[in-house]
Amino acid sequence: MKKITTKFIKEQKGVNKLVMITAYDALFANIFDEKVDMILVGDSLEMSFNGRDDTLKASMDGMIYHTNAVCNGAKKALIIADMPFGSVINKDEALKNSLRVYKETKADAVKVECNSANIDIIKYLVDNQIAVVAHIGLTPQSSRSEGGYLIKGRSEAEKIELLSIAKKAENSGAFCIVVEGVISEVAKLITNSVNIPVIGIGAGASTDGQVLVWSDAFGFFDEFKPKFVRRFFNGKELILKALDEYVSEVKSGNFPSQNESYNK
Ligand code: KIV
Repeated sequence: MKKITTKFIKEQKGVNKLVMITAYDALFANIFDEKVDMILVGDSLEMSFNGRDDTLKASMDGMIYHTNAVCNGAKKALIIADMPFGSVINKDEALKNSLRVYKETKADAVKVECNSANIDIIKYLVDNQIAVVAHIGLTPQSSRSEGGYLIKGRSEAEKIELLSIAKKAENSGAFCIVVEGVISEVAKLITNSVNIPVIGIGAGASTDGQVLVWSDAFGFFDEFKPKFVRRFFNGKELILKALDEYVSEVKSGNFPSQNESYNK
């Protein structure tokens, strides 16, 4: 089992589709580790794990705690820690907080939500030996200021802006780009215009790989289902079925049996 590196990820462009999934703890990181290329400790944990309405309350301490848990569980996949809202508001904060990730966890890279105003931060981090994934398009940390989760790339101006941010991310040294909530045709143009892998979420099938939030993909989070999510497992339904069985076995006195008890 060879540890996946940023070099390996870059080499997959045009060769193999890449698979990224989120994880927030050692248990699931360990299950996913063998099969995926990258594990993202996403700030989506604030919603799917912590039950909040958006990701904005994620903190550096929280991300570091969960990144350590994921690093304890995963030995092979490349691990990416998401930089939470407010942690990269200027170059100095971005470097200080990214250095925390490298010094306090074994994460291989950080992910930064980028727009044309903060794209310079990537070069500063890369120049200081931090590996960076640039997250562009629909950036959930902008959802409150933009008034919702807005799909990007519908207008010519947005298309041009996205292509320019993607190119700048590549030129600044990002080793990978996550494109979220972008019209498929524009995601394809972005993918074809850069020489680093582009991982899509809600960005169609032409990207170099896909990322999903694990609790969406496996049916544990069912409050809403974005159009781009495919449920590969009915997690909640199956857990509830097993839970019913557990409850009924306890209530009927059938659990624990003699074999499940210490008799001597
Ligand atoms: O926080 C997260 O899980 C993410 C993915 C949706 C890309 O940013």
